[in-house]
Amino acid sequence: MENKKTYYITTPIYYPSDKLHIGHTYSTVAADAAARYKRLQGFDTFFLTGTDEHGQKIEDKAKEAGVTPKEYVDQIVAGIKDLWKLMNISNDKFIRTTDGYHEKAVQKIFQKMYDKGDIYKGYYEGLYCKPCESFWTETQAVGGVCPDCGRPVNPAREEAYFFRLSNYADRLVEYYESHPGFIEPQSRQNEMINNFIKPGLQDLCVSRSSFKWGIPVPVEPEHVIYVWLDALTNYITALGFGSEDDSLYRKFWPADVHLIGKDIIRFHTIYWPAFLMSLEEPLPEKVYGHGWVLLEGGKMSKSKGNVVDPVILAERYGVDALRYYLLREIAFGSDGVFSNENLINRINSDLANDLGNLLSRTVAMVEKYFGGTIPADRAAGDFDDALEAAAAQAKAQAEANLDALNFSVALTEIWKFVSRTNKYIDETAPWLLAKDPAQAPRLADVMYHLCESIRIISVLIAPFMPETAVKIRTQLGLAPVTDWAESGEFGKEATYTVQKGEIIFPRIDLEKELEALAQAQKAPENPLKEEIEGVAKIAYDDFAKVDLRVMKVLACEPVPKADKLLKLTLDDGTGAPRTVVSGIAKWYQPADLTGHSVIVVTNLEPRMLRGVESRGMVLSAEISKEEIKVLFADGIPAGSKLS
Ligand code: MSP
Repeated sequence: MENKKTYYITTPIYYPSDKLHIGHTYSTVAADAAARYKRLQGFDTFFLTGTDEHGQKIEDKAKEAGVTPKEYVDQIVAGIKDLWKLMNISNDKFIRTTDGYHEKAVQKIFQKMYDKGDIYKGYYEGLYCKPCESFWTETQAVGGVCPDCGRPVNPAREEAYFFRLSNYADRLVEYYESHPGFIEPQSRQNEMINNFIKPGLQDLCVSRSSFKWGIPVPVEPEHVIYVWLDALTNYITALGFGSEDDSLYRKFWPADVHLIGKDIIRFHTIYWPAFLMSLEEPLPEKVYGHGWVLLEGGKMSKSKGNVVDPVILAERYGVDALRYYLLREIAFGSDGVFSNENLINRINSDLANDLGNLLSRTVAMVEKYFGGTIPADRAAGDFDDALEAAAAQAKAQAEANLDALNFSVALTEIWKFVSRTNKYIDETAPWLLAKDPAQAPRLADVMYHLCESIRIISVLIAPFMPETAVKIRTQLGLAPVTDWAESGEFGKEATYTVQKGEIIFPRIDLEKELEALAQAQKAPENPLKEEIEGVAKIAYDDFAKVDLRVMKVLACEPVPKADKLLKLTLDDGTGAPRTVVSGIAKWYQPADLTGHSVIVVTNLEPRMLRGVESRGMVLSAEISKEEIKVLFADGIPAGSKLS
């Protein structure tokens, strides 16, 4: 065990800002196939995925939703974990950048770079929007106004911390040149050198002070650490780097491959290696930037409303069919087009026809001709050698292409063997052999060759379609595969006792299904109903913990420098005034509220909002994102409890 070879593979850590779609699923399924392959080969494998949870975008979305950033990400992260469970992703760890151990380690990393002189304090310059507290570049602030709120921006500069990225330009190019294969596909390397390094690397701003949702800079906690420094280091903090126990780090680092989308290659091949060089730690072996899953009309986008939901597809056709389609259809490294029609056609031809039929025909024949068990008396014949040679070829090709992360070519090669095995049935014509009792040994040999071929196929497809591999082997009377080497041993099993099972991939009626699928993919007819039905249920006991009371507004005033907030002084019936800050300034003037009674959640943890401690929350109804109405309870005595 000690000398077992290790394999460390990562996916990007995803932003939990929206639901993940088929493009994210593609990245993760690819990494999963590679990890499963290496595990089967006996590598001690560590497969990491996770979520990248800090930054202004999350802070803004949480604010919009009226929850804390942590509450906001928690619910989305739970959905991401469910998606990976559904897709049968075998990650060994799921890192969240809000995990305490990660936050501490990132601070240590920052401090180390700072102590070394690789991080220094300077000025961040740009066009500043005061109300939004945001910096913009000239190109973002078109017409000199803030792209968010439309108010004028002014040139400003702010103190910030910078990483001496410029010092690493030469070492980066040297590293790329002395490590062919570090960046793949290779063409991306030239893109990095010509587009980013040659024009001159600027030092990188690695802190922000315009928002709070991030890891505090250790030397100046009013600043938070730039999300990419926080995010990239997940690959080592997940292994315990910077913590008391870094045994996993010592075992698995450097990573064998960071699998990412092509849009984030720059971060992984310029920033990340430079950070590691600064830390004097080894660099990953490989950064592989795969292409995009596009739609016929171009990119998926939430605003176009054409985001493909993997859950709908997996539920209709099975997880393995979707995993197969994604890795077969798109040449890894290039962009590819997803379409419902292609998906269904592939399921029908490759899975139902080629693979599914091969299995069901074989099992049915072994049952019909031999009652389920292939006799030991077998006679070799024509076509056997060719089939065995094709099996060896399939294994070699699958291996070479999986090693190179050419998933689609690996599958194409495996399917050549599936077709070759189907052809063997035509060549040997078992139904004719069955007519002549003297041919029984030959027929037994043909059945044996078919079962052996299917067994080998089950091993070769196991990284891609783990459940299907198990289903196939169950019908062949075999335990789940545990060793890739099995795919190279034609003749491994002495005989087979088969058992007919369900059809592994039922044929789909293309036309009918296209319509039904389009219907299922349509935005919900009654979104409100869906929304209400989709709200997570809570136990009565949890609900009973919420204390709601009527309170009278004694005084109300704006909160300085916060144009959304009002400070309310309330009579809660106890005699001592209570302060609550509410984000309703856009809809109410102080005079609209003073003297009226409102409903307040009293037992929320107190929160500091712009320097004012808020003890509770005023209930209001959101009529739309643009219209909020406070629920008044005039005439009901202060302190009355709602039940
Ligand atoms: N949080 C960063 C990654 C930090 S890694 C240290 C991020 N997150 S993301 O959620 O926006 O994207 C994650 C990955 O999904 C990226 O590799 C991106 O390329 C990939 N994809 C997003 N849409 C995609 C497609 N339509 N097709 C293929 N991959 C796509 O970036």
